[in-house]
Amino acid sequence: MSRVVIIGSGIAGLFAALHLADAGKEVVVITKQRPEDSNTNWAQGGIAGIIDKTDGVGKQSHIDDTLASGDGICDPNVVKIVVEEAGDRIRDLLSIGVNFEKDGADFHLVKEGGHSDRRILHAKDATGKEIERALTESVDSNPLIEMRPHTLAVDLIQTTHGKPSDGIKGIWCLNLDSGIMETIPAAAVLIATGGCGQLWEKTTNPSVATGDGMAMAIRAGANVKDMAFIQFHPTALVVDADRPFLITEALRGEGGVLLDGEGLINYRIDGGSPEPHSFILEFSSQGSLATRDIVARACDQKMKETGAENVWLVTDHLESEALRNEFPNIEERLNRHGLSLGETPLPVAPAAHYMVGGLDVDLNGRVLMSGGNSIPGLYGIGEVACTGMHGANRLASNSLLEAIVFAQRAANHLIANPIVDAEEGPRWRADGMIELKEHVPLVRDLETLKKTMTLDVGIVRRFSRLERAKRMLNLLTKEVDLIWQESLPTRELVELRNLVLVGTVITQDAISREVNVGLHYNIDLI
Ligand code: SIN
Repeated sequence: MSRVVIIGSGIAGLFAALHLADAGKEVVVITKQRPEDSNTNWAQGGIAGIIDKTDGVGKQSHIDDTLASGDGICDPNVVKIVVEEAGDRIRDLLSIGVNFEKDGADFHLVKEGGHSDRRILHAKDATGKEIERALTESVDSNPLIEMRPHTLAVDLIQTTHGKPSDGIKGIWCLNLDSGIMETIPAAAVLIATGGCGQLWEKTTNPSVATGDGMAMAIRAGANVKDMAFIQFHPTALVVDADRPFLITEALRGEGGVLLDGEGLINYRIDGGSPEPHSFILEFSSQGSLATRDIVARACDQKMKETGAENVWLVTDHLESEALRNEFPNIEERLNRHGLSLGETPLPVAPAAHYMVGGLDVDLNGRVLMSGGNSIPGLYGIGEVACTGMHGANRLASNSLLEAIVFAQRAANHLIANPIVDAEEGPRWRADGMIELKEHVPLVRDLETLKKTMTLDVGIVRRFSRLERAKRMLNLLTKEVDLIWQESLPTRELVELRNLVLVGTVITQDAISREVNVGLHYNIDLI
């Protein structure tokens, strides 16, 4: 039997599943909620990439912007590979029926922060949803792919000695319908679980983003890289009684401008025209379209200086009908709160958005240990992986592209190097464990964790606060370990255990850094 298990049903997981099934592999995709409850499904902006293979100038410009955004620590070889392979992989998406917006015979391209050109394909303001729709439909009609929703991966199964170098033999997972732990033996496991936005109080991520795959791989001996680089999206809509809702950067690509409270008053006194003057110009000559690290930090600083809960995204100097046509989902969401594109200023603030670091992987997505050897049978693709593409700050809309390029590379590697596994995996150690009755303490611990990460491991950091976070994370680790040893797993317990571990590695990486770069900004290092 050479079954492949893919954990996660976002773009990376489903794209890899289709490639593996095309090569005759039996694939099981497990996902915590429904297939569509992924970060991908929530992606608004789009997918960056030059489709025309002969457009050397366009590709070079994409490479240059990616390297500049990554603040000097991208892997230039990886950036080149991803940009070069973009055209073929985007054509793969087109061939399974993804409908990107057209402008006559050509694609309609948009621009986001840090891009010097329009090179982002999109499906209005719901690109991820459209990609996920086409992928899910293809997966559903493929007899070699089995989807298992409501299944939470808990841990990777290794051979008897538990040495990472022995390789992965499958996974243990919690059936969320029955509450029973199950064993899925596998020749190889692809982790495609996305990020960990749920570590912070405000996030643009869905509730499933709890760092599960990352934590599982760390426990199995994986090395992680660049964990301090957490990208906060500058413009999440903040209105009472609603979770932060992403307002795509493409809106600023169309001319939207960020103002602070004073800037908004002055703009109104001026009569609202012709061009609002952004406070971001104090931080970058690119103003509201500077790279995300700069814009988010500027917003954070302005809010802390003035005590305001938000800054303002202004679009009333733009053509309102065109905006509403291009961003219909955002308009619909705004209308629920009495707001509208091209009319009302939008209250926005930064929210945790994307994990730039992740599992250390090679050019084929194989997960590496600290000495540089790979863990046989284990791959990491999508947001969970750190390929070197994003450096210290991901360029907007580069992540869907990186996900499909590396999903295909990992699938190809596995097809060319099959691992045969005939073993039935060991059963989960359930003997003597008790059913967890008290859920409230776990909820409190999760609140404490989120508060700690928000206050002490956010956009702007300092050593004393990072050390305080470390102490709190140590306490939480002890507490969760104790419960873990004696209780049967529940979703809350599994997720909390994973979040505490991922929060710990993020904090450790932030403490160890002696230089500010990209998304890591410690005021003690200025
Ligand atoms: C956005 O639409 O602003 C988000 C796109 C991304 O994070 O790449």
